Amino acid sequence: ENLTIVDHPLIQHKLTILRNKDTPTAHFRQVIREVAILLGCEATKDLPLGNIEIETPLEAIKSPYLEGKKLCFVSILRAGNGLLDGLLDLIPSARVGHVGMYRDHETLEAHRYYFKTPDDLGGRQVIMVDPMLATGNTAIAAATELKNAGASALKFMCLVAAPEGVRAFNAAHPDVPIITAALDRELNDRGYILPGLGDAGDRIYG
Ligand code: PRP
Repeated sequence: ENLTIVDHPLIQHKLTILRNKDTPTAHFRQVIREVAILLGCEATKDLPLGNIEIETPLEAIKSPYLEGKKLCFVSILRAGNGLLDGLLDLIPSARVGHVGMYRDHETLEAHRYYFKTPDDLGGRQVIMVDPMLATGNTAIAAATELKNAGASALKFMCLVAAPEGVRAFNAAHPDVPIITAALDRELNDRGYILPGLGDAGDRIYG
């Protein structure tokens, strides 16, 4: 399994706030942004470092500095934007792509309605974000399209994943690590994650 569950106490605490149906929209939006920062630390922990020469007020040193191209965050609309906001707080210079996907409520198939990314995805660390990995149809389709657009180093960061979605995504994209705050129990017959947190897009935007 190419899956990392980030069980940092701050993440688990904030996830409880997000799961609670009584958490109002404004608070939900703020807290998902905070969780994105914490998950973002895990998702970026292997970024390559070089050294640059600087002078502290006391002496010259070589000091670690990110090397390579700026990374690219890709938000799966619309709920991905809740996580994207936090990631941009963490790394303001990152490039950003948007992939618009909606699920057919009957078939649970994913349909793309928008796709725009920077031209030069190759050579960048690309981190795709969406709070929910349910059947996996959305994330699988988005990853396929990003690879077709040139992405070679891809990760997927989510908040809550269902075992069904993890299995399907790992099978379709074994090279793409999943980083999540929680692995939940199961999907219900309408494709909602249990216990989950409801429809993330609706919780963030109303
Ligand atoms: C939700 C969620 C994911 C997708 C996950 O989006 O934000 O994108 O479903 O389900 P899957 O793994 O079964 O494909 P939704 O279609 O509700 O769109 P929205 O974010 O625009 O509300």
